[in-house]
Amino acid sequence: MEFSAKLIQILKSARHITVLTGAGVSKESGIPTFREAQTGLWAQYDSMELATPQAFQRNPKLVWEWYEWRRGLVREKKPNAGHYALLEMEKHVPAFNLITQNVDGYHGQVGNQNIIELHGNIMRTKRWSDDEIITEWKDTGEVPPRCSETGSLLRPDVVWFGENMPLGAIEAAIQGAQNSDVFFSIGTSALVQPAASLPLYAARTGAVLVEINPAETPLTEQMDYVISGMSGDVLPKLVKTVWRT
Ligand code: OAD
Repeated sequence: MEFSAKLIQILKSARHITVLTGAGVSKESGIPTFREAQTGLWAQYDSMELATPQAFQRNPKLVWEWYEWRRGLVREKKPNAGHYALLEMEKHVPAFNLITQNVDGYHGQVGNQNIIELHGNIMRTKRWSDDEIITEWKDTGEVPPRCSETGSLLRPDVVWFGENMPLGAIEAAIQGAQNSDVFFSIGTSALVQPAASLPLYAARTGAVLVEINPAETPLTEQMDYVISGMSGDVLPKLVKTVWRT
């Protein structure tokens, strides 16, 4: 795989890199994406029945069990070569932000430090009543389980359609984008806001934009470099080319 010599030079001298990842980064781990035809979760399931607060109110058991299935997948599968390459990238650059829309927690699992989880983490659980994170509860067999202290239903700590993202996370993400001299958009369809605007914030403050994706996205035209391919294949090669030669 040949990379642009100019891009390699830019990356070698980069002081601050910000990376935005989406479901495509975990696809080679065996975790389904959302919008791809046939295989994407939203091609097979109705997001309005499974990923909104109203859906949880209507049918908490169905929603909990769907997330329990997804948690099982995350436990059963593991991070791939793309995740590990991003860990290596973080080690080579003075300042590094990893902004992810993924809820699988794989970036943290491989050891990346500076992670902003815009859509939460599926392995964390919180109280429905007040969003308090809960780590332990008594298993009474009820689905979903309830907080042992207050009796409130428990739900996954993810951002559902119609819910606000954690404000601190958005602010940190925008700041990361604005401070970076290179901004990567990897494995995301760039259709969900505000994540999809982050490359534009970065471009306005002079960052070089790079996209890694086997398909085009609405942002492809605005990129300085487009690497068409799978992140688990492209990222290890790119990191090796830039920092190990
Ligand atoms: P999407 O499913 O919308 O997009 C996945 C992207 O990954 C597509 O552009 C694919 O072309 C690309 N892709 C597929 N395989 C790849 C590979 N091996 N390497 C690199 N890229 C690959 O997923 P997201 O953009 O992450 O939100 O979706 C954003 C949000 O929409 C998700 O976080 C989720 C969803 O609704 C919530 O659940 C809140």
